Amino acid sequence: MIARTRRLSVSPLRPTDVEELVDMVTLPELHRMTGGAPADRDEARGRVERWLAGSPKPGITWINHVARLEETGDLVGHCQGTIVPRRGTIATDCTLGYSVHPDHQGHGIAHEMMRAFVGLVVETDRPHQFLAHIAPGHTASEHVVAALGLTATDHLDRAGERIWASAERV
Ligand SMILES: CC(C)(COP(=O)(O)OP(=O)(O)OC[C@H]1O[C@@H](n2cnc3c(N)ncnc32)[C@H](O)[C@@H]1OP(=O)(O)O)[C@@H](O)C(=O)NCCC(=O)NCCS
Repeated sequence: MIARTRRLSVSPLRPTDVEELVDMVTLPELHRMTGGAPADRDEARGRVERWLAGSPKPGITWINHVARLEETGDLVGHCQGTIVPRRGTIATDCTLGYSVHPDHQGHGIAHEMMRAFVGLVVETDRPHQFLAHIAPGHTASEHVVAALGLTATDHLDRAGERIWASAERV
């Protein structure tokens, strides 16, 4: 499914997006707050191709979408949802990840893209709750998830990132 917003189209990652997404994820600025930069283009391509292939673990779903500017067709963002079943239930949680091309940051693209992405995931996968892990001091990222209705919890993950969570869907 594709979502269209005022400036963007947000659609599932396709083979024809790979090289442009590799161009973006190899930019060091994207990893300044979160770490985890790929060592080189080959490693980045391997990562993007794994996203495209989908989760190798049964029961876990990887959703990867790209955002393109309607006006120019440029790839300006990547959104990720990892859907994991809750132990012992049929409910699932969706952990969000996102990045915006440095040339396009600071103009509300993350807000617009993630609102559209969450809307699509609600329709297709109906997760019970949305989660995000946010590095200490990453104010821009906190604003993005706060606008989606997530709030900070008291829990930190193993990397020391704070877990933010939406209300649980009933
Ligand atoms: C986090 C990120 C996606 C934000 O993208 P963006 O398109 O610049 O975000 P927006 O323009 O939609 O702005 C989001 C909010 O952050 C605020 N913001 C933007 N840049 C900021 C900065 N440098 N410092 C503090 N706040 C900032 C904006 O004011 C906005 O909040 P508001 O609307 O409540 O005022 C982008 O910085 C990025 O890709 N970073 C690298 C990848 C990453 O860290 N991803 C998040 C972890 S998964």
